[in-house]
Amino acid sequence: MANAKPAVWIPRVLSQATLERAARDYEVILNEADTLSSAEDIVAMSARVDAMIPCHSEIFSADVAARLDPRLKIIANHSVGVDHCDLAALKARGVTVTNTPDVLSDATAEIAILLMLGAARRAVEGDRIVRSGGWSIWSPSFMVGKQVSGSRLTIVGMGRVGQAVARNARGFGMEVHYHNRRRLDAGKEHGAIFHDTLEGALGVADFLSLHCPATAETKGLMNAETFALLPDGAVVVNTARGALIDEDALIAALESGKVSAAGLDCFVSEPGGNPAFAAYDTIFMLPHIGSATVRTRDAMGFRALDNLDAFFRGEVPRDSL
Ligand code: DGY
Repeated sequence: MANAKPAVWIPRVLSQATLERAARDYEVILNEADTLSSAEDIVAMSARVDAMIPCHSEIFSADVAARLDPRLKIIANHSVGVDHCDLAALKARGVTVTNTPDVLSDATAEIAILLMLGAARRAVEGDRIVRSGGWSIWSPSFMVGKQVSGSRLTIVGMGRVGQAVARNARGFGMEVHYHNRRRLDAGKEHGAIFHDTLEGALGVADFLSLHCPATAETKGLMNAETFALLPDGAVVVNTARGALIDEDALIAALESGKVSAAGLDCFVSEPGGNPAFAAYDTIFMLPHIGSATVRTRDAMGFRALDNLDAFFRGEVPRDSL
């Protein structure tokens, strides 16, 4: 490390271990209030620091990128997703951008499985009935759901998280299908069935789990036309990004029965989610907590710091985008 420590802005409260390591090696400006930062906040801070460790909640649009102070050299994201960053605009300004792949795959896959099970087995409704004191009957026809084990699961986006979901799904004896830009090497497929078209993959999706990044191409991937391709009564899970789903089309698909239930950890509008979803017991919702475990938060923070350390040693960080 050079004598004068580089200055780093941390706009959200990261794990204690991350903050301690950051404070050891850098001059840290921490937003202890843990509030959302505006474009103006980000631009103003760029004149005071050499680096930032933002989360997906801080938006680096083309407009923000154009207004950044040249002092800012690196944005070491504390996230794997980088749809909050206009990468081309940041590159044009000479700002290095990194992310935190790998380390959150297992935690996010766990949440995908939780959502899949909870949606399929009517967890919202069941919890509400018991919690409210309204559980007055039991019958073989009471709260019958859709069985996960032995069903077909389609994964769209077979990257690290998708592969972790496939690993877990195999434990339930699910038949795994996937659609991805490229077919995986045979050694990584573990029997998963590749579909070179989205249409083909959706046609067998008794359960559908989305794991692709939000880009111009994937925005609204699930819409009225693509929901129509699913088998009747499909269960849809999204732990990737809200933008992948046209939320009005999802409601229409739930109303028609094309989709029997959904499990969502992310929404078009965050924080907050879609208030219209609250009327549906068939939607099992969580507030974007896919990677929210102690171990994974530490690992994400350390990976972001590893990228910063490499950059300030004059190396290309391993997760440079
Ligand atoms: C990610 O890393 O992209 C998760 O959504 C949490 O930010």
